[in-house]
Parts: sequence; C-alpha cells; structure tokens
Amino acid sequence: MIKKGIILAGGYGTRLSPLTKAVNKQLLPIYDKPLIFYPLSVLMLANIKNILLIVNPGQIESFKSLLGNGKKYGIKITYKIQKRPKGLPEAFILGKNFIKNDNVALILGDNFFYGQSLTSKLEKSLFHKNGARIFLKKVSQPKNFGVAKISKNTIEKIVEKPKKNISNQAITGLYFFDNKVCKYAKTLKPSRRGELEITDLLNIYKKNKNLKFEFIGRGAIWSDAGKIDDMTNVSNFVESVEKVQGIKIACLEEIALFKKWITKKTLLKNIKFYGNCEYSNYLKSL
Ligand code: DAU
Repeated sequence: MIKKGIILAGGYGTRLSPLTKAVNKQLLPIYDKPLIFYPLSVLMLANIKNILLIVNPGQIESFKSLLGNGKKYGIKITYKIQKRPKGLPEAFILGKNFIKNDNVALILGDNFFYGQSLTSKLEKSLFHKNGARIFLKKVSQPKNFGVAKISKNTIEKIVEKPKKNISNQAITGLYFFDNKVCKYAKTLKPSRRGELEITDLLNIYKKNKNLKFEFIGRGAIWSDAGKIDDMTNVSNFVESVEKVQGIKIACLEEIALFKKWITKKTLLKNIKFYGNCEYSNYLKSL
C-alpha cells in the first residue's frame, strides 16, 4: 500500500516569466486557489497523508505560510530544498530519508487532474506492490511531454519530448514507484538538456518488465499548467465547473472533512486563517 507521496514544486518556471520572477509557479492562482492545492488534493484523494514537498531555496517560507505542517488538512507535510532543478528523478535522491523502505507516489506540482473515475483509479493503483505505474492521457501536442507507445496492451517505447511523433499518449505527472526507485535514480546520468529524466527512470522499469500503465479516459481531464495558455485554460475550466455546479475543485478542507481527517473545530480555524473570502464562504457551507 502506498502511503507516502512527494510533490515536486521546485523549478524556475521560466516559461511563465515574469510571473515567476518573484513567486514560485506552484503558488500562482488557478482560478481561486494556488496551483499547489490541485496536486496536493490528488494525493489526498488517493489517501496519501504523509507528504514531502520539494521546493526551491528561498521559497520554503512562502509554502510554509500557506500550508504549514499540513495539520490543518489532517495530513503531514515535510519540506526539502532542491538547490537547483536537476531533473524529476532527483526527488528520489533528495527524498531518500523520507521514503525509507516504503513505496512512494510522485506528483508534479504543476499538474492538474480532474474527473469522476480518477479517485477509484488512484485507489486501485495504491495496492500495487512491485514496479512502477504511470497514467497516460491522449494529447494533441505529444512533443511537449514524455510519451509512451502502446502496442498489444504493452508499453513498446518511452521517449521524452519526441521530435518525431511516435504516439499521442502523454505520460502525465503522476507516478507510483516501488522502493527500488531510490536505487535506480542514483544510477541516472543527465540527458543532453542537462537534467535527470523521469523517462530514463521509467525505461529501467520497462527493461525489467515492471512498468504498468493506466489510461486516463475521455471522461477526465489532465493538464500540465507549465505555460501561460495552459494555466489560463485550466483556470477557466475550474471557474466554469465551480460556477455551474456550485462545488469547488481541490478544496483541501472538503476532502479532509469527508475523510474525517479534520474536525469542525479545525475547519473553523482554517476559515479564520483565510479570512473573509469566497473560499471561506464555501468552507462555511460545508
Ligand atoms: O507534465 C508531465 C511531463 O512532466 C511529463 O510528460 C514529462 O515526461 C516530464 O519530463 C515533465 O516534463 P516538463 O517539461 O513539463 O517538466 P518541468 O521541467 O516543467 O517540471 C515539472 C514540474 O516539476 C514543475 O512544476 C517544476 C518541477 N521541477 C522540475 C524539475 C526539472 C522540480 O521541482 N525540480 C526539477 O528539477
């Protein structure tokens, strides 16, 4: 059972400059909440309560002033600094003491997931003991992502940002790994762009015939909010769903309350913390 999760919320966010010159990308708004709420809510929906948040030097205090140690959401958040963005697999090198002998989930701080079947897919995946598991989503611009070519229901090839189109199944930024991931991450060498690549890590699992995949079907949406257009699109999507349905996406307190991880007293404290705002009004309605 996977009980630990890492959120990678470092990086320079250069594609979003000047927005990211003074503020970390993951603290920028997606409609009415900071971006970090969305990947955090995914881990919470998957019943992962023990979370390591990897951040840039100098930005840890901003994250702490928003999320604290996680107690207000009934979870535990610890922090680790990544000195510079050396690539996604560094999460397993920096997170070694957090992971210990356990299996672990990784989610990228700029990834947005939403859809009805998602929670059940996640819960099912948590039971997997060996190997790695990835989630694939059909996209129109595969060259912007890591992609997986599937044939006869197996993964034939995995390539990071392919120049030539080999598949339009993007590898989304949510991964489940067994404990071997720490050992494998240490063996990786930087790619031509100077980063450790998650696709190289996945290829080790593939070589060992221990890489599983799931499709995120048409009924769910996934987006990487790393570029300004994606960020605006996701923001608009959240706004429409929330306005039409009168619900909130990624309301951390709602998830925690539903799972009985927090009490009404904590909820009231959180309302006081956020102050007089739309989000607090929603919390009051819970
Ligand atoms: O979004 C899914 C894609 O994410 C995958 O399909 C690709 O295989 C994977 O390499 C990754 O591609 P990106 O180019 O979108 O990754 P990016 O550099 O934007 O980093 C993703 C997030 O991780 C971002 O929120 C910043 C954070 N990050 C990134 C790096 C490289 C870190 O915290 N530390 C890092 O060293």
